[in-house]
Amino acid sequence: MQREHKEIISAEDRTTWAVTGPAILTPRERGSDQAAASMVRTLFDRPRWLEPCHLYDEKGSLLFEDICELPEYYPTRTEAAILEREAGALMSLAPVECIVELGAGFSKKTVHILKALTNARGRGTFAPVDVSNTALMASKRMAEELFPELAFTGIEARFEDAITSITREIPKLVVFLGSTIGNFTPTDMLHFFSHLTENMGPEDYLLLGVDRIKDPAIIEPAYDDSRGTTAAFILNGFHNVNRVTGANFRLEKIAFRSRYNHKRAQVEMCGIARETHKVEFPRQSASFVWEKDEAILMETSRKFDPEDLQVQLRCFGLETLGHWTDPEQWFSLLLFRRNAPSAESP
Ligand code: AVI
Repeated sequence: MQREHKEIISAEDRTTWAVTGPAILTPRERGSDQAAASMVRTLFDRPRWLEPCHLYDEKGSLLFEDICELPEYYPTRTEAAILEREAGALMSLAPVECIVELGAGFSKKTVHILKALTNARGRGTFAPVDVSNTALMASKRMAEELFPELAFTGIEARFEDAITSITREIPKLVVFLGSTIGNFTPTDMLHFFSHLTENMGPEDYLLLGVDRIKDPAIIEPAYDDSRGTTAAFILNGFHNVNRVTGANFRLEKIAFRSRYNHKRAQVEMCGIARETHKVEFPRQSASFVWEKDEAILMETSRKFDPEDLQVQLRCFGLETLGHWTDPEQWFSLLLFRRNAPSAESP
């Protein structure tokens, strides 16, 4: 039986979500105002930076798909190979019928999980969450073509909005792949897990894909590729800022820089001013002088020690059920169950 699209949203929140496209839900109170406010807040911060979700407009989502195909970008193919090998095992450890995928993109790797779900249960629900409508529509086409027996509901929203509103009534596997968690600051990562686990139901599971700390000679080219696709992806973020806020970033004045920061075990991708110039935000009646060589941090991609991460996540009641890796131990897939809070806890 097909689920009503809004059933994936908790009963108390249903009125705050609208069905905006074929099987796509969006929060009613969304909009470019929220995005513009976030952009202006961080670009006027010192040092200047941008939240990574703003890299994924239509063009950014397509460029990221191109990145995933680059020979230097090992995370996608490494994670996909682990998923292909282990999807059956993880579905037997997480006996659910509903898959919620955070930051789904085009859901190409998720095919392995959906295949294991349909093999094991013959039916179910797939609810990808993404800020990009382009990505959700691609995900929908894939699901309709390959898994017509699954009910599909795309959720076009930021993670926090989706996590707050998704029902706790349906047992689900929350899938968070691609090491997207590495794009959060350490503080935001802890907030994310705190918010996620507070909103997980007693029969929910989490599947997390994380890129591991390794020789920087392998990591660096993955984030500064020879074709310049990563540079185009990062610089497109400035286009998106112009579109959303009305600012006048000029791409010819911006250089791309990608560096691995050993101390923080993260790649830092920046736009650097080629010369000192003024950037204007006429709608906000604001401007700043962007000094030559000053960096705007557009994205960080943190790498993890999976053992340390599991210790951290235990503090949020996440108990490890499975840990799979590749022969070179470059990437880890971790399956967690949320422990019921103990009777003594306040
Ligand atoms: C989406 N995220 C996990 C990618 C990463 O590897 O950090 C984003 C990315 N940015 C440049 N290349 C890939």
